[in-house]
Amino acid sequence: MRRLGGLALGAALGIGAWAPVPQPSAADQSWVSTTLRAMTQAEKLSLVTGQFTRRFPGRDFVPSPEAHADSAGYVPGIPRLHVPPLWETDAGIGVASQVDASTRRQRTALPSGLATAATWNSALAFKAGAMIGAEARASGFDVMLAGGVNLARDPRNGRNFEYAGEDPWLAGTVVGAEIAGIQSNQIIATTKHFALNDQEFGRTVLSADINEVSARESDLLAFSLAIENGNPGAVMCAYNRINLVYACQNDWLLTQVLKTAWHYPFFVMSDWGAVHATTASALAGLDQESAAASFDTEVYFGEALGRAVATGEVPQPRLDDMARRILLAMKAKGVIDHPPTPGPIDFAAHERIAQTDEESAIVLLKNAKGLLPLRGRGLTVAVIGGHADAGVLSGGGSAAVYPRGGNAVPDRSNVPFPGSPIYDPSPPLRFIMRKLGKSAVRYDEGTNPDAAAQLAANSKVAIVFATQWSAESRDNSLTLSDRQTALITAVAKANPRTIVVLETGGPVVMPWLKSVVAVLEAWYPGSGGGPAITNVLFGDVDAAGRLPISFPRSTAQLPRPISPGDAKRPGAMFTIRYFEGAAVGYKWYDRTHQVPLFPFGFGLSYGRDAFFHYRVTVDHDAVRAQVGVRNLSFRPIIEIPQLYVSCPGFDDGVVWRLAGFAALRLPPHSVRQVTIAVDPRLLANFRSASQVWQIDGEACRVALGRSERNMVATATVPLASMRLDVK
Ligand code: BGC
Repeated sequence: MRRLGGLALGAALGIGAWAPVPQPSAADQSWVSTTLRAMTQAEKLSLVTGQFTRRFPGRDFVPSPEAHADSAGYVPGIPRLHVPPLWETDAGIGVASQVDASTRRQRTALPSGLATAATWNSALAFKAGAMIGAEARASGFDVMLAGGVNLARDPRNGRNFEYAGEDPWLAGTVVGAEIAGIQSNQIIATTKHFALNDQEFGRTVLSADINEVSARESDLLAFSLAIENGNPGAVMCAYNRINLVYACQNDWLLTQVLKTAWHYPFFVMSDWGAVHATTASALAGLDQESAAASFDTEVYFGEALGRAVATGEVPQPRLDDMARRILLAMKAKGVIDHPPTPGPIDFAAHERIAQTDEESAIVLLKNAKGLLPLRGRGLTVAVIGGHADAGVLSGGGSAAVYPRGGNAVPDRSNVPFPGSPIYDPSPPLRFIMRKLGKSAVRYDEGTNPDAAAQLAANSKVAIVFATQWSAESRDNSLTLSDRQTALITAVAKANPRTIVVLETGGPVVMPWLKSVVAVLEAWYPGSGGGPAITNVLFGDVDAAGRLPISFPRSTAQLPRPISPGDAKRPGAMFTIRYFEGAAVGYKWYDRTHQVPLFPFGFGLSYGRDAFFHYRVTVDHDAVRAQVGVRNLSFRPIIEIPQLYVSCPGFDDGVVWRLAGFAALRLPPHSVRQVTIAVDPRLLANFRSASQVWQIDGEACRVALGRSERNMVATATVPLASMRLDVK
């Protein structure tokens, strides 16, 4: 045994952590072959052409009565062959309803996807997925359009709340677990939006330009990990172009990478309105056109595809392959043998799952003077702003879940898509009052900073709830509204014990940070938001979340301080050059020597712990780290040891890559040990010429961190040069 960097290097215990995409069983394949042989050409063309579920302005398409009203989509089944329809619902935080006030279904909302990523906890993500999948099934759906894993390349992306942050390993792990949870209900989940749909402005006209190596080491790595971990039945190709070619007709993306290199066996569906051609899409690897007659300029599959096959422009085997992939997903995920059955939903139990998810997701960003957790006796609290008396904010667009009990802050202005903000009726005020008694808590809606400041001055503690709404189709700024900034400033001036609770889709800047004592990032808290926030404020649970996305100090720190695209010409095509390559998020700040406001992986806990043991072993491409954590406090805590790797030759100037983590629950004064295996891809570079992941044979550092900027132990390990067999 050799010792390096003060650490013992011993024999490896096994191989690396990666698992290839699981393939469907021989029995499933054989059922599909038999069914396919029995299908007519018309049935195949119908199976590859999706429909929308309600009338669309300017279109004469009439939805099938068999479609579920106000849902995302429907594909007719083939009753004579026992193939049920595909009933599709959005999305990642629960069963959504399309924007139409009359018939909305009320369902449980998880906290935002970014919040679930902030738990760094795959077991929780699985449970969260299993819960929303159960509601989907009980609502009669067999496809959930959930599994969004686009990287947060820009913290202003209006859909970051649906995704899982800026790091491929974290995002691919958490979203993969959520997908697996959804599919445990014998329905299909859909990873999306494949790929590089990393901002909303101009999403249908922009071209995301990036070289292959950088794409494979960033956004595409997140997708491949989500697919390996979750094994989703479907992939949704995105609206945007990549290197000038539309994602849904991009042969490199769909056929060379997804289906060939990764061996993805199931089907690619288009995003709603993302198809622009028949032959180019079919040949590039698109398998199903979604909501064709309603969203695309014309129906490109259906009869048009039939004609292209008849002339030989699209070979018959390609159409057969499309149908085969769809049927295979339906068979392998349980849709054929267990079509969805509408049934009752245990809302109380589901709300508890949403609450647990949120409790583990809230990130304590600042806690000066140990003000938090709040202690009950004699405390008087001013609760201010954010509609905290009514509910908690959620994100908008196709993913919006209409909550049980309705929108707590109804807006009757009838704004077209993405609609107006929905508040889940789980008001923090009610739960804070339950803790302290009604008379100890006062509420001010926060519209008048002077009135709020006065209330704050007369209370021992002030809690300001600050919100920023994010929604599909629009991007955000990093600043809270002027009104809220003024409110926080005024309240903090009046009461030196001011706490800010943020309900935002992602990072915001905090010009008022120094003047407040504590800050909690609660994301979009979901159906259990009120009790979850209260439990963290009062320390019934530890502050457990860690940032899945860096919080910059200002837009000046971003690769593109000015958002790409010309707001004056919203329909004009444009290109975003992703020159930062794989240096996304914290990797960009490292490379440019900038210190963010709060780094990736950061989050305070209420307890005290010590990492007391750290040992790295390496053998061939298998690097493993053993980590021991001791809880030094009298309270139960959650600690999340994070493993980072750094090899001198990483592409794009990347310094550290997250390579593993574990969310550990530690009872008072307990000890936990965990072994974290490093996926060898994280030690390698993707090589374009040979199309392989290659470890370059160098001395790499393997570090244990509390965040990306706080490494507590580092080992240097020599790695032999080698090619990996995973693509
Ligand atoms: C969104 C998808 C969604 C689909 C169906 C599109 O606008 O980009 O994420 O699944 O609509 O509602």
